[in-house]
Order: sequence, then structure tokens, then C-alpha cells
Amino acid sequence: MMSSNSECRPEAGLTRREFVQTATAAGLMMTVPTWAQEQPAQSQPVQELAVGMIGVGSQGQTLMKLCLKDLVPGLRFVAVCDIWPYWREYAVRLLKRYDQPVNGYEDYREMLHKEKHLDALIIATPDWVHAEHTIAGLRAGKHVYCEKDMSNTIEAARKMVVAARETGRLLQIGHQRRSQPRYWHALMMIEKDKILGRVTHTYGQWNRARLLEVGWPKKHTLEAETLKRYGYDSMEEFRNWRWYRKYSGGPMADLGSHQVDIFNWFLRTGPKSVLASGGLDYYTQQEGRDWYDNAMAIYEYQTSAGLVRSSYQVLNTTSHGGFYEQFMGDEGSLVISDDGRTGQIFREVHAKRRDWEEEVETVESMGRDAIELKIGETLTPEGKKDLEGQKLAAQALRDSRVLHLENFFNAIRNGTPLTCPAEVAFDTCVSVLRANESIDSGGRYDFKPEEFVA
Ligand SMILES: NC(=O)c1ccc[n+]([C@@H]2O[C@H](COP(=O)([O-])OP(=O)(O)OC[C@H]3O[C@@H](n4cnc5c(N)ncnc54)[C@H](O)[C@@H]3O)[C@@H](O)[C@H]2O)c1
Repeated sequence: MMSSNSECRPEAGLTRREFVQTATAAGLMMTVPTWAQEQPAQSQPVQELAVGMIGVGSQGQTLMKLCLKDLVPGLRFVAVCDIWPYWREYAVRLLKRYDQPVNGYEDYREMLHKEKHLDALIIATPDWVHAEHTIAGLRAGKHVYCEKDMSNTIEAARKMVVAARETGRLLQIGHQRRSQPRYWHALMMIEKDKILGRVTHTYGQWNRARLLEVGWPKKHTLEAETLKRYGYDSMEEFRNWRWYRKYSGGPMADLGSHQVDIFNWFLRTGPKSVLASGGLDYYTQQEGRDWYDNAMAIYEYQTSAGLVRSSYQVLNTTSHGGFYEQFMGDEGSLVISDDGRTGQIFREVHAKRRDWEEEVETVESMGRDAIELKIGETLTPEGKKDLEGQKLAAQALRDSRVLHLENFFNAIRNGTPLTCPAEVAFDTCVSVLRANESIDSGGRYDFKPEEFVA
């Protein structure tokens, strides 16, 4: 057991120098997050960015509030678009309270036509309209942050990648774990420190409690004509779009995309096959849904170290265990989650102990001693406190969504790389939507390498 500040040791938390060197060696510099890149000096004025948002529902509001409360200075919302006046007007009022008066629009086309000075768009509409909104934004010259999953069809997601490439604008997709230093730290421990030995399996889950219906205040029911104009058949479908194939890629895309994205990232490749099972077993067709309420998928990855099997499950009936990802090797396992409270390393008894393990603080988890996965304060090679390392440790405590947005805005300002550009998210989109096909067909789906090329 070690003292509580033992994660100050560079071995337990890579120094920035080590991190960047490791990243370079692993060919990662293209995707190293902003916090590992050169930042402008504090004294330099921050370039103000004019931002518009399309879709100010649940996630749109969350992102907006995070931006208002925690984001770097220099961000100004100037326009919001949402077809539902109930939330559009709420967003306009909220921004006014933060001294950011905005124009509200029902139709994104009018917004793009009138708000020519926008630098960037944040898109948090349902998945089926991501491509339409994103491509229009890119073609109007805006940089775009679009929520995951890219789309509910591979064809539409591919068009998003092509539009970003053709316009030369930035397109960041909302897989926020990619901007979270804890994930980078875990990846470095697996790849550089080989803390798990050879990784042979991964597991991921998102178990959540029964959620039958998202409602709405009846006096704010949209007119049938308005719903129809924007492609929704009823208010129920408009609010519960996740359960319908025409609007969503189902739970594998909605929740699974976050975590299969981590498999793809950490294993450095897309899957070679998927065999999945699932169904609408608990909620019935009579309740109007057509997406699976549970799904279980087994992916196979051909990595440079050998075959890795990854199992993933998403449940909508029971929340036990919540959401996390797990990497398993012949020398240990690592559990990590976007919920910062989950992060541990379990070493196999026969694994050769590292020097730092003698001092590391352990916690009891599932009846075993576990090393807590933390980014600690790091030291320079001379043993002094490493300021960059400290900054990294502080960053790791911040909300991943803020870090991900920040990565996007810094990329616009400074030209630093995006952590989740469209072509990266495209691989994830293909990976999860093909799992749906496997469920539908009842058979294994073999990916073709060219499928991952947009
Ligand atoms: N990154 C994350 O952790 C995370 C978390 C939750 C949701 N999301 C994603 O955010 C997106 C939105 O999800 P949500 O939970 O906020 O859904 P929601 O239904 O709460 O909000 C969607 C909003 O889009 C509006 N909208 C629908 N069609 C529109 C159109 N054609 N034009 C303009 N506005 C339109 C709706 O009125 C609503 O306000 C989804 O893609 C979802 O996958 C991401």
C-alpha cells in the first residue's frame, strides 16, 4: 500500500513529455487531444467564436449549459434553431440570462441564410437529421460539432465525411470520451506500460433502468402539420424518436456507439466480424416501438497482437453495473467509464510486479485488490512538480463533454487536431449499425475493409 499522494510518481501518471513521446511513437500525434498540444500564451486574446445550435432538447441544453458555465472564454451563442417552440424559447431565455441574446429559428435553412457570420454550429438533433443539418452547415462554410451517433444509416454518415473533406471545414462527432485524459492515460498504460500483458478480450455494457416513455406538456403539443413538415408522424414519435428505426440506429447506436468507439480506438482497428442478438422483448410492439430494447454483440478484432473478442451489451430494463468498458489481458484487466468514479486495474497474481506497484494505493473491488486508475500530479525527470502534468490531472476531473467541445473550439482557433473527426466516428457508425444487421439476419456479419473507408 502506498501513501495517498503516490500517484505523483511519474510511473503512475505519465509526464507530459512521456505522454507526447509515447503518442509520437505510437503514431498518435494526429489525434492527441488539445491539452497535449501547444496552447496560446495566456496573455494572447482569445478569438471570439460566434456559435449557432440546431436542436436544443435534452442534450443540446446540457451542452449549452456546460459551455456557459465551464468553457473557455470567447464563445458567443448568437442563434438557436429548434422546431419545438417549447424548447427553442427556453433556450433563448436561458441564453439571455447569461447575457448572450440570440435569435431563435424554427427552420435551420432560415438560420443559415440569415446568420452568415456564424463560425461554428453545434448539432444535437435526433440522429436521422444529423446528415442533413451537418452537410448544410458545412456547405455554408461553418465548422460543425455534431452529436453521436453520426447517423442511423451508413450512407448518410459517409456523406457527412465527404462533405467535411470537400468543404475543408472541421467536423467533430460527439464521442466525448476521446477528449478525456483518463481514457488517454488508460490507453497509454495498456499500450506503453503493457499493464495488461496481451489484451485478449474486451467487454462493455450500458445497463439502464426501465424507461417506457418520454412525455411532454400537453399544452406544448406540436400541430400535426408542423410534425409532418419536419418528418414526424406523431408527437409520441417526435419525443420518443430513439425507439423508431426511421429516426435512430437503436440502442447499439445510441449507447453502444460510445463504447464500441472505445474498443475500436484502443484496439487500433475496426472489427472484422460481429455476431449479435437482441429483440423487442420487454416492451411490446403494441406500445409502438420498433427498435430492440436489448442487444448483445460479440465483435472480433484482428489486432497486431492477435485476435481479440469483445462482447458488448445494452439493456433498457435493469441498471445494474451502469456503463463502463473493460479490457482484459493475460496480466490484468482495466475497467474504465466516462463516469469518473469507475476506473480500476486488476493485476493477475502471476504478473511480474512493477516497482511502482509496491507503493500504489489499492482499493477493494469485487473482493479483490484493485489499483485505482488516476491521473496523478506528475513529476519532471528532475523530481520537480510538472506543471503540464498537473494541468492534465486537473483536466481529467472535468466533464468529458466540455473537454470535447473545447477540443473542437481550439481546433478552429489554433488548428490543433480534433480528437474525434468524422472519419474516425464513421468507423464506429459502421461497427454499430452492422451489429443491427446481424441481429436482423440472425447471422454473423463479416466486415469488408473497404466498408471503413468513407
Ligand atoms: N454525447 C452524449 O453523451 C449524448 C447524450 C445524449 C444525447 N446525445 C445525442 O444528442 C442528440 C439529441 O438527443 P436528445 O436526447 O437531446 O434528444 P431530444 O429529443 O431531447 O432533443 C432533440 C431536439 O431536436 C429538435 N429537433 C428534432 N428535429 C428537428 C429538426 N428537423 N430541426 C430542428 N430541431 C429538431 C427537437 O425539437 C428537440 O428539441 C442525439 O443525436 C443523441 O444521440 C448525445
